[in-house]
Amino acid sequence: MRNFTEESLTEAAVARIAPECDPRLREVMTALLRHLHTFVRETRITPEEWFKAIAFLTECGRFCDDKRQEFILLSDTLGVSMLVDAIANPGGGDVTESTVLGPFFRENPPLIANGGDLAPGIAGRRVNVDCRVLSQDGTPIAGAQIDCWQASPEGFYDSQMGDGSAHNLRGRLTSASDGRFWFNTTLPASYPIPHDGPVGALLRAMGRHPMRPGHLHFWVQAPGHRQVITHLFVKGDEYLESDVVFGVKDSLVVDFGGADGSIHTMRYDFRLRKAA
Ligand code: BEZ
Ligand code: FE
Repeated sequence: MRNFTEESLTEAAVARIAPECDPRLREVMTALLRHLHTFVRETRITPEEWFKAIAFLTECGRFCDDKRQEFILLSDTLGVSMLVDAIANPGGGDVTESTVLGPFFRENPPLIANGGDLAPGIAGRRVNVDCRVLSQDGTPIAGAQIDCWQASPEGFYDSQMGDGSAHNLRGRLTSASDGRFWFNTTLPASYPIPHDGPVGALLRAMGRHPMRPGHLHFWVQAPGHRQVITHLFVKGDEYLESDVVFGVKDSLVVDFGGADGSIHTMRYDFRLRKAA
């Protein structure tokens, strides 16, 4: 087949997928081809605009290294990460809702004993975190593994400080026999996602700010249960309504105190769905 036209090209591209193609890949690629072609037809993309789009994606690739993932930022800021998460974790009912993983999770964080400090040597207003891991029926789960990570009061993760090699503002805890885990830390501040690259330029071009409301990240895993990757957001933060990555859910907004200057204890129960 040759002499393709605006009308005939899409189905021709779909028809090129070989019969032996993995069925799921066929399904996804067929939909991608149809949607992408429809997008180009609808918007009447010009060759100059298409080269600009390719240059943008090339720049995203150039910005990536083992500490910076511009494609995750792109997915997050376009709302795609939260859409994928909403499909995988519909939430509702009695289990803790999920939100984006983000690019700042690191493997092998420091192990922190209950009562320990997540942010040693970091200034800022201190807060106690006192949480429980429960099964969806309310039974405490002992021995759950909880990874926590957060930004500094200046809005930087450890990988963005100094040469990026030190691990701080993060740790792995284990729930006690009553499901509790607890630690001390500094109040997580609101912060801009990295916006010195192509994704930041795109946000500015769209008239959008790069801010996330203050939050603590949690990844909770327990045998016999579905894991949950989520955050707890600081109640009253000015960016709760306009989080750049669309990650805020009402059930994840909690009181971190602060009004009277005393050290507040933030409490939260994580409820995990039983594994199927
Ligand atoms: C974060 O909360 O760490 C984050 C999430 C998405 C994009 C950038 C940062
Ligand atoms: Fe974060």
